[in-house]
Parts: sequence; structure tokens; C-alpha cells
Amino acid sequence: MSVNFCGIELAHPVVNSSGTFDPLAARRAFGDAAFTNFPFSAHVTKTITVAARQGNRPPRLWEAPTSLINSIGLPNKGIERWLAEDYPQLRELPVPLIVNVMGFDTDELIQLVGAVAQLADVVAIELNVSCPNVETGTIIGSDPDECSRTVNAVRGLTTLPLIVKLTPNATDPAAVALAAQEAGADAISMINTLRGLALDPTTLEPWLGGGTGGVSGPAVKAVALAQTASVCAAVSIPIIGMGGIDSGHAAREFLAAGATLVAVGTASFTDPTAGSRISAELGAMTAH
Ligand SMILES: Cc1cc2nc3c(=O)[nH]c(=O)nc-3n(C[C@H](O)[C@H](O)[C@H](O)COP(=O)(O)O)c2cc1C
Repeated sequence: MSVNFCGIELAHPVVNSSGTFDPLAARRAFGDAAFTNFPFSAHVTKTITVAARQGNRPPRLWEAPTSLINSIGLPNKGIERWLAEDYPQLRELPVPLIVNVMGFDTDELIQLVGAVAQLADVVAIELNVSCPNVETGTIIGSDPDECSRTVNAVRGLTTLPLIVKLTPNATDPAAVALAAQEAGADAISMINTLRGLALDPTTLEPWLGGGTGGVSGPAVKAVALAQTASVCAAVSIPIIGMGGIDSGHAAREFLAAGATLVAVGTASFTDPTAGSRISAELGAMTAH
């Protein structure tokens, strides 16, 4: 089950997806066992931005039978407080640490990547490109040229592997992935959430405080699998596949589509040990 991802040795191919598993909250709730029995082979942080963000106004979640729609709005304490308060604790994790960042312009991204690149216990940086370029309004991850410019701007700042996290809300994710690879990305992760809308059943007004939200969970798996297969066919760099993975079988499907690692997101909200279960199920399947 061990796997080499961009030169990083991992015990198995199941990691968490950004923003869906908080090891520090888990340790507060369940004690040190949350660290020692960590359910994933690496930890990917929630997206960190330069400035602290409150996130969107509530309600932030809409639950449907096979999906979740979130409009969290990237709340986080900002890079300075993350470095001072969270990083010293996260470096105690028994697994490698991958840091996910998002810049609202190139200067912000340079600042974030420059700061994270200095950290001794970080093994890779994930770029969340599901945000608009503030000058053009284009979602960076939906446009090959924007994505290429973004990766180019930070490639020279670090020798750490750069993982570009793609949005599925793009006409041609494979073209974006190829542009990221050509600009020097070491890996692709996909998919982020699909844009969706939930209406208040009584008023028929948007339910979520942020208006629309991002759909995740088993309902998006078929879309994620199709996009993963198409990107795997287009690029030669490794892929972290995700979107609705809730079982060893689903994880195996993404590996069969060409992914090197898989990430578990929404499934951790119903069961914080889902990562351990999924890697055990995957191990039992691949042993036969
Ligand atoms: C509540 C919630 C918060 C999320 N926060 C982030 C985030 O901060 N950064 C990011 O890149 N993706 C974020 N995501 C997207 C997930 O990492 C993942 O790409 C997506 O949910 C698909 O996987 P899943 O269906 O297994 O949840 C978030 C998803 C959810 C449901």
C-alpha cells in the first residue's frame, strides 16, 4: 500500500482533502489518539490566505441525501497567525504535512508560497486556484493561461512539490492541467466542489448565506471520476483524485482511472475515522 508521491514516501494512498479534516479540532475533541491514530497518510491543511477571513454569513451548509452544499467562504486565521499558532502543533503530526494556500492576486500568492517554502516540516504546497483573478475576474483554475501565469509566478520560489488543485467548474480541466504541468506544477489534485444552489423549501430563496455553494459528496463522484480519467490521460505528473470517495471501492476506482493518491473529504464529516476505514478497505481489496 505504500506509495511514492513526488518523492514523498506515504504509508498508503489515502489523504484528506483540504478543509474537511481539522487535526487540531480532532485532538481537542478526542485527545492525543487523534494524532497517533491519524486516519490519513498525509495531512493537507485547510486553505490559508494572507489576511484572516470570517467566511460567509450563515447558513453555510445544506445537506442532501448524497451530497453536501457548502458556502463556507474560506474562513481562516491568515498566514501570520497560522504560522505562529497552528504550524507548531501540526508539525507534531505523525504524517507528512501539505499546506494549501490561495492568493487573491499574484503578490499574495508569492507571499504565501514564500512563507510556506521556508518551513522545515512541510513536504509540498497545494495551490487552490478556484478563485478569481481580481484584475480579470476569471477563475484562475478555469482558464489555462491564467493557471499557467499563476504557477509561473511562484515556481521559482520553492523546490517543494507544487500541487495545483483544479476546479471542476471549467470547460476543459485537462487543458488547465496541461498548462499547469507545462508551467512547472509537480502534481494535480482534483476535484474541488461543483457550483450548486440550494433553495429554502418555504421561501424558495437561496438557502446559503453566500448564495450559491460548492457541491461535494457521493453525488459528485461520477463527475470527478470522468474528469480525473481525462486529466490523467492528458498529463504525465501524478494526480490526487477526489470527489465523493466514501469507500475502498470508490478509492480504487480513482486509482484505476490513473490517480496516484486519493483524498477523502465529505465522508469525514459523518465519520472522522472514514480515512482509516477507506484505506483498510482498499488494502483488503488490493491484497487479493
Ligand atoms: C466544508 C468544506 C470545506 C472545504 N474547504 C476547502 C478548502 O478550504 N480548500 C480547498 O481547496 N477545498 C476545500 N473543500 C473542497 C474539498 O477539499 C474537496 O475538493 C471536495 O469536497 C470534493 O471531495 P469530497 O466529495 O470527498 O468532499 C471543502 C469542501 C467542503 C465540503
